Amino acid sequence: MTEMISIEQLELKISDIKSQLEKEEGLSKADLQIKYLGKKGLFNELAKIIAKVNYQDKKSAGQMLNELKNFLNETIEKMELQKTKVKWIDLTQPGIKPKVGHMHPVSQAMEEITRIFERIGFTRARYQEIDWDWYVFESLNMPKSHPARDEWETFFIDAPTDKKLGKIVLTTHTSNGQVREMERLNSKAPIRMINIGRCYRRQQDTTHTQMFHQFEGLVIDKGINIQHLKGTLDYFAQEFYGPGTKSRIRPFHFQFTEPSLEVDFSCHICNGTGFLDNEVKKSQDQRNKCKFCKSGWHEVGGAGMVHPNVLKAGGFNPEVYTGFAFGWGVERTYTLKEGLNIDDIRLLYSGDLKFLEQF
Ligand code: DAH
Repeated sequence: MTEMISIEQLELKISDIKSQLEKEEGLSKADLQIKYLGKKGLFNELAKIIAKVNYQDKKSAGQMLNELKNFLNETIEKMELQKTKVKWIDLTQPGIKPKVGHMHPVSQAMEEITRIFERIGFTRARYQEIDWDWYVFESLNMPKSHPARDEWETFFIDAPTDKKLGKIVLTTHTSNGQVREMERLNSKAPIRMINIGRCYRRQQDTTHTQMFHQFEGLVIDKGINIQHLKGTLDYFAQEFYGPGTKSRIRPFHFQFTEPSLEVDFSCHICNGTGFLDNEVKKSQDQRNKCKFCKSGWHEVGGAGMVHPNVLKAGGFNPEVYTGFAFGWGVERTYTLKEGLNIDDIRLLYSGDLKFLEQF
């Protein structure tokens, strides 16, 4: 009678073969295959043993052998793969660069605006995004129930009303910084403030987001006149949009300025001409129109000489002091500079990296 073999003995032999393979060095893939899986290889030699396994253990012995065969095949493949990996390290190949982030385009614009105004003596301010009605409207010469307030689609906070300061609102513009800055400096001139902050309005479509940013300039001193305002606007136009960019002011109405103005900047793509060619003799229809501005100018925001009532609200005597103010949106200022015709401004706040990585 032939000598029988137990499952335990078979297990031992299997693990011997496995560790032998794992220790192999120097044999090629083909050699390993012959040694372990070839006709006379270690696997086939072992497989013959099945004849010596008890009848009732034959099934598990077969499964164990199958598992061993898979192990041998897979391990030989893996060893080959590792060998090729090592062989093909190319030290001259450029490495994989780690991803580097950058500031959001709107933050970049705010930084640049701050630097431009700091160079001519303005101080950067930040005032609250949630403020009293008094600072957002009333101190800016907009008494309660004044129809001018309707232009600002205001969010109100559900909170108790203060007798003097009124309701609490999400700031609809950065103009709330005007009287706050006058108070911060104890109504002492000179004031040269650039306030940049978030604003909120109940408006959302392709050209508006409910949250957006504005920057607000305020200058108060003795003898400040409209020429100082115009000079400041021209300076900003050139610094932000490039040499040669001009500003233009047009009459308008705001409650907090008198006179009030709307501000345009000349288009830096067509140099304010409205056309991309120099063929001035041709009729307008035949010329290559600038698609970016259509008229040579871009409307950007509001400005004016600070209204006497606003100066009074901030503790200044309007008989002695005068001032100018201006304010408008950071998003629009930025997209104009880049020549971006973003068809949906909400993209800026979508958090979509594919969009943001372009800037
Ligand atoms: N606060 C105004 C708005 O949001 C913009 C503005 C106009 C600001 C005139 C000013 C100004 O400082 O003088 O539409």
